[in-house]
Order: sequence, then C-alpha cells, then structure tokens
Amino acid sequence: MVILNTCHIREKAAEKVFSEIGRLRLIRERRQQMGGDMIIGIAGCVAQAQGDEIIKRAPAVDMVFGPQTYQDLPQMLRKLSQKGRVISLDFPEDDKFDYLPEKIHANARIQNSAAFLSIQEGCDKFCTYCVVPYTRGAEYSRPVQKIMTEALNLVQAGAKEITLLGQNVNAWHGEGWDGQEWELARLIRELAEIDDLKRIRYTTSYPAEVTGELLQTHGDVEKLMPYLHLPVQSGSNRILKLMNRRHTAEDYRQTVEKLRKLRPDTALSSDFIVGFPGETDKDFQETLNLVKEIEFFQAYSFKYSPRPGTPAADMENQIEEKVKAERLAELQKLLSSQTQQFNQNCIGKNMDVLFDHKGRKDGQIIGRSPYSQPVHIYGDEALMGHIKKVKITGALPNSMSGELISEI
Ligand code: 5AD
Ligand code: SF4
Repeated sequence: MVILNTCHIREKAAEKVFSEIGRLRLIRERRQQMGGDMIIGIAGCVAQAQGDEIIKRAPAVDMVFGPQTYQDLPQMLRKLSQKGRVISLDFPEDDKFDYLPEKIHANARIQNSAAFLSIQEGCDKFCTYCVVPYTRGAEYSRPVQKIMTEALNLVQAGAKEITLLGQNVNAWHGEGWDGQEWELARLIRELAEIDDLKRIRYTTSYPAEVTGELLQTHGDVEKLMPYLHLPVQSGSNRILKLMNRRHTAEDYRQTVEKLRKLRPDTALSSDFIVGFPGETDKDFQETLNLVKEIEFFQAYSFKYSPRPGTPAADMENQIEEKVKAERLAELQKLLSSQTQQFNQNCIGKNMDVLFDHKGRKDGQIIGRSPYSQPVHIYGDEALMGHIKKVKITGALPNSMSGELISEI
C-alpha cells in the first residue's frame, strides 16, 4: 500500500499529485504483471479539495481520504476489499486525536529527541488567498489534559524538545484542568514544568493573535526557544487589507519590537507572498523595506498562486508570472543574505545543541541549535539525545559546524 499525503496550499504542490499517481500506476502495473498487487491511497488536503476529481481522473487510485479521517483507515481497507474504491471526505464529530496510541510502547523510543505535538487544527481567518479554512475546517483546540498526557508520553520515550503544532497555533484556547479556557501562554508554562522536557517551540502563529501574555512568556520561560515563526505575508497595508489579514505592517513591527525587548536574542522567521492581485512596485517595495528593518533569520517566500474557490482567485489585476518571478527573486536574494548574515554572526558564539542524529561523514553527529539550525561536530555517539555547549566555528548556507566545549 502506498499513501500519498498531499498539500493543497499552492497549485504546484497540488499538480505534483497527479504526476506522482502516474508514476505509482506504472509500479502497480509492473507488480500486477508479476502476480502481485498494490493499493494506492491519496490522503491530505488535495484529497479533501479534489477527491471526486481524483477518483474520476485517476482510475488507479483506490482510496481518497481527507485529513480528518485517518483514524478510519482500517475500516476503509475493509470496505475496499468488499465494495471497491473508497472516498472518505467527511469532517466527523469524533476526535481523531483520541485514536493516537495511549502510550508509546516502552521499547519504541522515539527516533528523534525533538518531537511534534498537534494542539490545534483548522483556521477561521479566511485570508483571501488561502485554502486552509476550506480544507482543514474550523479552528479546534485540544484540551490541556490530552496535550499533557501526550507530552509526558513523548518525554518518557526520549523527547527533549517538543514543537507545538497548529495551523493557527496561537489561536489555541483549550480547556484547562480547571474547566476554564486557557490561552497558549498558560499551556507553555504548564509544559515547562515537565523536568525532562528541555525545549519548547510552537508554530505557526497569526500576528493579530499574539497576546501580551504570550510575549511575556518568551521573556521569562527559559525553555521556550528564542525563535518565532510569524508570517507577515506583505509589508504593504493596502495588500494586507486585500488579503484580509487582520493586522497592519505597523502592528507587526510593534509586536516584534516588544518581543525583542523582552527577549533580545529572539530570531524571527516569516512567510511572504509576492504578486498578490493588484500588488504594485510600491507595495512590493514596502515588503522589501519591512524585511530590511526587521532582519529575518529565515523565511519562506512564494509567488501568489490562485486557488480555486478563494476570493483572491477572482480578483482583477492578477499579476503577470514574469513580474511575480522577478519580485520573488529579488525578495529571496535579500532574505537569503539575512540568513547568511545571521549564521555568520553565530561564529565564535557558544550555543546549546541538542544532538539527535548521525552525520554523513564518519564520526560526525548533528544536532539543533536553539534557532533550529543544524549544527555538526565530530564527537561521540553517546551525545545523542543530550544538550551540550558547542562553540560555532563555521557557517554554511544551511548548517553550521562547531566544536564541543562541555564534556559528556
Ligand atoms: N499562494 C502563495 N502562497 C500561499 N500561501 C498560502 N496560500 C498561498 C497562495 N494561494 C503561503 C502563505 C502561508 C504559507 C503556509 O503558504 O505565505 O503563510
Ligand atoms: Fe491560511 Fe494562515 Fe490565513 Fe488561516 S491565517 S487563512 S492558514 S494564511
């Protein structure tokens, strides 16, 4: 059985699905010629948004199921053997997270010392370019009790670092021990009480929902890493408004300023869209200005991709592909120079590195800095799963090298 877990956020990602299905179909035919068989399933957001089309266009596909029904996979397989092709695109009432194993098996230590934990799903923001509110549904927050149980399980299985996940993670407002609604800041403080958990991160956040309490948490919870992914999308207020973002460029600047006051070593990363319908040279210049002012340590930038069913896809003044490509190249040049500058500035500094896998070269081991940069050193494998002080000696575009300071 092969399951493609698919992404629908931009056209390019969605297109890939059909070419991958073609490739899998050939593998399946070869297997069938040899007397075997293969099941092909398409999961994720392309399945959710284009499930009927996939079933029609791709007879090789046996199962199509959206992100909300993974827990039904055993039933789907049964149905497949009895009744033929399966489509499962509902948003069921029951909590899919309840189907996660209660305990990670005692001898199934997790592979990495860094684990992910989903605490929130869905989005109610309806940015005019974005499919997420349609494919992932309304915002949903898991209750504290379930999150803490899973966190303790992960830590017992060897996790030293947990990244809290959500499409709109700072919109999390789960039920606490006291039956009251908590906000993310309080959840982070609760998690920080777990002794053997050493690092906490969260992603992805929505700027208009960064509360004062959350900023304060960055200021005084040591275990919360000095790094925040906070997508701004554009530096132009006119475009932000057309995007239905509920913040201005000034709001964003202020949030960053407050954060840096509370925790000066915080590094910022962001997402950008260039070539949104109606974006002028001046609007784009405002994005470049914002980037120059803030100085991002890392960023993801994309050409605007019209998504069927979203308001922006029907807006006038769609931007030419050529202009989008030019703007993207210019923005990416600026952003990557900031990444390089950031990495260069790390040389000579001592950083805590959580080691969790072997490098390609003999004797090399790799870990993550507080900013999640991969750091490689030559050292003992016994360091795996431990946080050690490393002196950074070199910076490559996507990783850094260093030497161990503290002993095992
Ligand atoms: N076109 C281009 N980029 C998009 N993103 C979301 N929708 C689109 C789109 N239609 C980007 C945003 C978001 C990131 C996950 O993907 O920058 O933050
Ligand atoms: Fe999409 Fe994020 Fe906007 Fe939600 S907040 S609609 S996930 S870009």
